[in-house]
Amino acid sequence: MGINRPSEVDADRSFHHGFIQELGVLKALKYKDNTLRVLDQRRLPNRVEWICCTDATCVAKVIREMAVRGAPAIGVAAAYGYLLAARSLAARGEGLTVDALQAGYRELAAARPTAVNLVWALDRMVACLRDAEPLPDAQRLDRLSDEAQSIEARDVEANLAMSQRGAALIERDRECGWVLTHCNTGALATAGQGTALGVIRDAWSAGRIEGVYVDETRPWLQGSRLTAWELQEESIDYRLICDGAAASVLATGRVGWVIVGADRIAANGDTANKIGTYSLAVLARHHGVKFMVVAPRSTIDRDCRDGSAIEIEQRPAVEVSEVGGQLLAPRGASVYNPAFDVTPAGLIDALVTEAGVVRHPDRDSIARLFD
Ligand code: MRU
Repeated sequence: MGINRPSEVDADRSFHHGFIQELGVLKALKYKDNTLRVLDQRRLPNRVEWICCTDATCVAKVIREMAVRGAPAIGVAAAYGYLLAARSLAARGEGLTVDALQAGYRELAAARPTAVNLVWALDRMVACLRDAEPLPDAQRLDRLSDEAQSIEARDVEANLAMSQRGAALIERDRECGWVLTHCNTGALATAGQGTALGVIRDAWSAGRIEGVYVDETRPWLQGSRLTAWELQEESIDYRLICDGAAASVLATGRVGWVIVGADRIAANGDTANKIGTYSLAVLARHHGVKFMVVAPRSTIDRDCRDGSAIEIEQRPAVEVSEVGGQLLAPRGASVYNPAFDVTPAGLIDALVTEAGVVRHPDRDSIARLFD
């Protein structure tokens, strides 16, 4: 398999101040010279390591094991994974067809089941290859390469549009100045500046918020390891809290909005996101705090009638019962570890997409986003 361990230069490179500024915005994925370089998010914030993938099996593995995570980012990674599968096929002198790439498609699509962006991106690559089938193989590869880059570029643009639209909803003078977020929805989870965290970034720059409460996000700790790190890099004021502290934080009246991302939004607006999101939506409604979901249209699954049809990924028990090899529960503890939950549309005050904002999303208003 095409996994190369990180080079010494990569491992030694300082990831602290200067890294984001140097790049404009942090890039967790970089495709160059037929290699997808993936910033290994399992090691953050302790170590900076890049994994170099040169085939689709490697890309499927880094998605499955969450070296790269976040719905839009795994969509972009999968598109490059498909491109790598196509390159391997062409290098073996085999005909570059959709059928011949079926095994690579299936391997990538199966890596994680809940975030629809993964299959959305792969389906775009398949459609691109179908259109290119009259062309010679070299040109088919060029078309696939352009398509993967366009999926990445489109995510960057969508992030910017969503960030502006979402930030504009936050009215500083009339609202409590803090927001609360869950999981990681920033540059690490997308190709651009982020979805929910992009809104927070823009709202902070515009002086619309005072700061951010960050749920640590058990069990994988995307909040404490990744979101706190991104906010700290950007000097945005934040307080890291245990997930169980959210109710009492909302009860203080300091928080105007809970702002989260999404992994799959059903046609009626029910939204799957990181486990714990549903609890936050219930708490927000109870405390009169508004609840915003920020996601590109590629996260909306119009074939999925409602939240009950969304497959929820189950993750390994050790993610809950151990940390860094240390037991947090008796050996052999029986664990239930769903990675996501579904927030009913009725608890969502605003759905922010690159194509527009939907207040109180429902089947009709979501359909209109695609008009
Ligand atoms: O399991 P993860 O870390 O991939 O889950 C990520 C989330 O739940 C995010 O909120 C979602 O993917 C949106 S990221 C812009």
